[in-house]
Amino acid sequence: MAQPDLIVTAPLPPFLYDPLKAGYHCHDYYQASHKPGLLAAEGQRIRGLVQGGGTVTPTPLLDALPKLEIISVFGVGYDGVPVDYCRSRGIKVTNTPDVLTEDVADAALGLIMMTGRGFVRANRFVQAGEWEKRGPELTMKLAGKRVGILGLGRIGKAIAERVRALGMHVSYTGRKPQDVPYRFVPDLTGLAAESDFLVVSCPGGAATKHIVNAGVLAALGKKGTIVNIARGSIIDEPALVAALQAGAIKGAGLDVFADEPHIPAPLLSMDNVVLLPHVGSATHETRKAMGDLCKANLDAWFAGKPVLTLIPELA
Ligand code: 8YV
Repeated sequence: MAQPDLIVTAPLPPFLYDPLKAGYHCHDYYQASHKPGLLAAEGQRIRGLVQGGGTVTPTPLLDALPKLEIISVFGVGYDGVPVDYCRSRGIKVTNTPDVLTEDVADAALGLIMMTGRGFVRANRFVQAGEWEKRGPELTMKLAGKRVGILGLGRIGKAIAERVRALGMHVSYTGRKPQDVPYRFVPDLTGLAAESDFLVVSCPGGAATKHIVNAGVLAALGKKGTIVNIARGSIIDEPALVAALQAGAIKGAGLDVFADEPHIPAPLLSMDNVVLLPHVGSATHETRKAMGDLCKANLDAWFAGKPVLTLIPELA
């Protein structure tokens, strides 16, 4: 049987791309020098699309793929996928939940420790030879401090477990209270007001765009540090930069940004900010598991079986 045609719209690691090329006729839209030409020549044949978690898939691209049956996202976040449009055309959308939960939660914990205990600053201090001249600064005890989690999904719960192990107190906000041993705070500003660390761990997309705004940051206040391992779009980034410049919040630990890989210049030189290059899920083990699941969804679909991890909105 002819191999199904796939369009690939993001850079993929070889441990995913090579097996895909072995089983499918792959068209590399991401690398294509003339994208409209690729769509005109191959668009009619394409049955599957592979993209990254952060990839934005515009509807005109999907319009050019009339036979598209499935979008398999290499990532848990699918905020770049026009889900309503896909529903209207009967296009399946799958993602890679669960396999990355622990790593992303570890990244959040790392950012809490690096900002709260000043470990990145302390590392710079040693590397710069400063310890030869003076003693290190004192930082902040984490046990007993309050962590507010915005979005208590799988990753949010894994973050809660980790900070509980440090002796920190957990509250959360989200669409509704859950049956968990953590306190629900109905509004984000209220949660920020009572948190030492406000951890952003909800999905990106239109519904959450800029919900962490100047008012939420003002409520977080001088005692509070913002941590984001979710999507840059959730925080109003200019408002965050302004809050940090004004000393209105204590600090920030960020793995994600509004316009990756571009980071607002003022953040690069701030001592109370820790910046990571979107590495929440970036371990060998987890990226391989994500790749396997991304391909397994395609394999199931094209074998006439149910996909493994359909996004909940289409279930
Ligand atoms: C990856 C992510 O960087 O899973 C997600 O939603 O943002 C990250 O794990 C990305 O998906 C890799 O393409």
